[in-house]
Amino acid sequence: MKKIRISIIGFGVIGSGVAKVISEKKGYIKSRHGIDLELVGIGERHGSIVCEDGIDPMEAYDLAKSREMYKHPCWKEEMSGIDVVREVNADIVIEATPTNINSGEPGLSHMMTAFKNKRHVVTSNKGPLVVAYKELKRTAEENDVQFRFEASVGGAMPVFNLVRESLQANKMLGIEGILNGTCNYILTRMSTEGLSYEHALSEAQELGIAETDPSYDVEGIDTACKLVILANAIFDMDATYKDVEVEGITGITPESLKLASDEGYAIKLIGEVRDGLRVAPRLVPKDHPLAVGGTLNVISLHTDLAGEITVTGKGAGAIETSSSILSDVINISKYEFEGT
Ligand code: HSE
Repeated sequence: MKKIRISIIGFGVIGSGVAKVISEKKGYIKSRHGIDLELVGIGERHGSIVCEDGIDPMEAYDLAKSREMYKHPCWKEEMSGIDVVREVNADIVIEATPTNINSGEPGLSHMMTAFKNKRHVVTSNKGPLVVAYKELKRTAEENDVQFRFEASVGGAMPVFNLVRESLQANKMLGIEGILNGTCNYILTRMSTEGLSYEHALSEAQELGIAETDPSYDVEGIDTACKLVILANAIFDMDATYKDVEVEGITGITPESLKLASDEGYAIKLIGEVRDGLRVAPRLVPKDHPLAVGGTLNVISLHTDLAGEITVTGKGAGAIETSSSILSDVINISKYEFEGT
């Protein structure tokens, strides 16, 4: 049995959700994969929980929910997230602090510090990937550790692992898809229920899928960030946010949705990597594979051998995102700790 020691940095919705899923899946991962996941550090903004003998993930989750992490017997007020990354002896650091697409911080420093301390990194955090993908990748390689970020685009939907493993003999020709659940939900509700834009947006916020500042969703910024990550990781580009032509959904009226619907089309916010990076509302035939509704995400990969491969699934949510995070953790554990 391989014991894999994990630190989680950032214990909000995603970080604490990962702890909950680790608690629930620990037995299954042991019996199915022969991997014993042990949580040894949790880094938060105002202190950390550190316990080299293992932290009960469910206890930490419950304390986070009631905002009482400081009551944990291993609470260390003076330790910050970066101290945990540097000092706690973890094999894998799960970085789940809030996204900052301008500086990438604090996630960027957490990741660089993890690599320099020979720790693998798994993340859902888009900011550092948008700001410094090449630098992160190079630093991971120089330190002979892995950098995995399946959860950063499309939540539960496999994209990077699909390309890396199942489609590895293929050349990627282009990618297009719906990468923001909030916009998809708004457009779907406006079109099928005739809701106003404001009403549909407030529903999306109640569902907890919208960004803290929802203009990141509706102005296409979140989709553009995800395109930058796809372009850099899959097409080996060196793109930044500035390379994306971006138009959001704020100009879409109920009338235009109705007109499109009467002609057999849905209006969707589509992100595309092909001869450049573009985000814009587009008409999609209602029976097209990209015409998924509600909060779903969808991505079509255009390849030379396999043709078009389309995957759809939940693009947000703590439990769904944890599915991708744990897939990365298990992959690293299997391939990097063979025989340990
Ligand atoms: N606000 C994002 C969305 C969350 O609506 O898809 C997932 O990145």
